Amino acid sequence: MQTWRLDDDRQTLVLAARRARLPEVIYWGAPLPSNETLETLAEAHRLDVTGGMLDENPDLSICPEAVRTFPGQPGLILRSHDGTPLLPKFCYASEETTEQSLALTYADADNGLTYTAKIALDPETHVLTLTSEINAATPVHLHWLSAPVLPAPQNSAEMIDVSGRWCGEFQLNKTAWSPGIRYRENRTGRTGHEHFPALIVLGAGATNTQGEAWGFHYGWSGGHRMVAEELPDGRRQIQFGHAARMEPAPQTHFKTAPLYAVYSSDGLNGVAVSYQRQVRDRIVTWPHADRPRPVHYNCWEAVYFDHKLDVLKDIADRAAKLGAERFVLDDGWFGNRDDDTQSLSDWEVDPRKYPEGLHPLIDHIHSLDMAFGIWFEPEMINPNSNLFRAHPDWAAGSEDQILGRQQMALDMSRDDVRDFIYNRMNAILTEYPIDYIKWDHNRVLPMPDASQTRGSYALIDRLRADFPDVEIESCASGGARIDFGILQRTQRVWLSDSNDALERLQMQHNAALFLPAAITGSHVGPRICHTSGRHLDIRFRAWVAAQRHMGFEMDPRELTADEVSVLTEVTAWWKHNRHWMTTADILRLDSSDPAVIAEQQAARDGTRFVVFAGKATTSTQIVPRPLRLTRLDRDALYKVTLINRTSASTLSRGTPALKEGAVTLSGQYLMSHGLTLPWSFPETMWVVEGERL
Ligand code: DGJ
Repeated sequence: MQTWRLDDDRQTLVLAARRARLPEVIYWGAPLPSNETLETLAEAHRLDVTGGMLDENPDLSICPEAVRTFPGQPGLILRSHDGTPLLPKFCYASEETTEQSLALTYADADNGLTYTAKIALDPETHVLTLTSEINAATPVHLHWLSAPVLPAPQNSAEMIDVSGRWCGEFQLNKTAWSPGIRYRENRTGRTGHEHFPALIVLGAGATNTQGEAWGFHYGWSGGHRMVAEELPDGRRQIQFGHAARMEPAPQTHFKTAPLYAVYSSDGLNGVAVSYQRQVRDRIVTWPHADRPRPVHYNCWEAVYFDHKLDVLKDIADRAAKLGAERFVLDDGWFGNRDDDTQSLSDWEVDPRKYPEGLHPLIDHIHSLDMAFGIWFEPEMINPNSNLFRAHPDWAAGSEDQILGRQQMALDMSRDDVRDFIYNRMNAILTEYPIDYIKWDHNRVLPMPDASQTRGSYALIDRLRADFPDVEIESCASGGARIDFGILQRTQRVWLSDSNDALERLQMQHNAALFLPAAITGSHVGPRICHTSGRHLDIRFRAWVAAQRHMGFEMDPRELTADEVSVLTEVTAWWKHNRHWMTTADILRLDSSDPAVIAEQQAARDGTRFVVFAGKATTSTQIVPRPLRLTRLDRDALYKVTLINRTSASTLSRGTPALKEGAVTLSGQYLMSHGLTLPWSFPETMWVVEGERL
């Protein structure tokens, strides 16, 4: 019997292998004592057998093998070069271990294969990073390779995975466990609005703030496959990998993307905080980590393709006065890009719109003390473009494919294509002082192909190596390319094309299970939302944007004096607080009122917090239910202040203490009873600051 364990102060992971077989994860949960005998644990873990079963339960190993009569989905499916199915059977070969990591290698001599599983535990974020690798003596076809397989607990009743749509990202689906498979497979070649690659398995009774939860996220932008399977014997396995059959050619080496897994004993927030910290502190590489996140202005919803220098300068003046610190010139500056039917891939400044190039605009923006960012959609080509006329074969997919937004994807696996795009972008980034790229990707691929994603990653990596000061925002018609793979190369995500604050409130709440505020772009949109038609008050729009990395994306010429003053004030508040809010933990609150979507952003040192309580709709009951806070020190006193109490409607006639001014309350009271907020209209937000005394 071989055993291994990884520990931090939140969890223990134990693996055990019988004889030389692949190991099973026999325990993953709350920390075990250091003197636990792992061999005994492995014996105790063994299941009984009865009639109608094999004489032994096949291992639920880190890569279940079909050849060992495993009754569920195998962890690896391969064919030889000539197409003959292979049935790998691995035996222990070697290992490299440290206190926080394991690399276990297994060999299949008959098939000329080796399998390596790497598992590393970060003791600060509590995130496990798991990858699998296959090396083959001769090229083989890969159908499916799972990252090391983890078990799911049998006391879990439900799991949550994530779907969505354009303008409706991060929708959570709760599914009950039952015999068989919950299967998600994204074959679009892009992370997708529909398929954020994640799963959370809920322990019995888990909520945002309490109970056990196990989180999984696959860090890859090319489409994933997830299998959450309950075997006939009741055991459950979780597999994540690239979507099946994404490698078109036989190869000798295959590797999964990292699977990020986390165990929490304090509800979904334990999962959320781990992922938020992992992204912010480990995955994203910041050109200047010490610089505050600048307030954005993005001109898309102000001018669309209608770029006029004077108008843009006027807009920039107004945005700067509101507090913006970065101006992003969106789609429309290149080629003949007067609409979305043409010019993608012709990355040269349009001389009709900018006869003197972009310098006059950038100089003006710099004179306002704003940085300058620019939009590209590097992987795409319109059939109506100079590049397509010269190189029609550079587009991926067949000639008669269905277009998406009148465009095709470039074949990013080709060196010449990547070089061409690199050179065009390099020319723009060299000529102009640009410190930010909004990198868009507005269509799915004609067919899934992992080399396309590898090509995109290579292009971004090359640009980042040559322009290390340039930050990148990952956008794909909003949030269709958000995952920890793209976030290794980018610093911000455009969560959604919906600037509708009401829709954003829910989306941001859900996305916080995985994403920190520092990287989640959120813009104050137009008074009448362009994607929903909803008319929302500036206070609500401003506070929802202030929950994340704040920006504006409306025509500031539409703003009334009241709107200007509210927006200036909320932006100033955000700037004043961003030094601690951009590193804060976002904690989702268990609101007793389903009409209220609330979160608490807690400073890392526990000295302060801010609660955002958004009223999404009208409540069933007549007065607000107390809102319970979380993760406070029970014995400490906190000064809590409803900072926007002057926004109370005249229909709020009573005298809850928060309406009058600051109140001092204990952590225990705030967590056990909660905050009593004033009555409010739907589509409004209360903002409460807390300071530990
Ligand atoms: C889709 C993006 O999500 C928008 O924000 C905008 O950049 C447009 N593309 C531009 O074409």
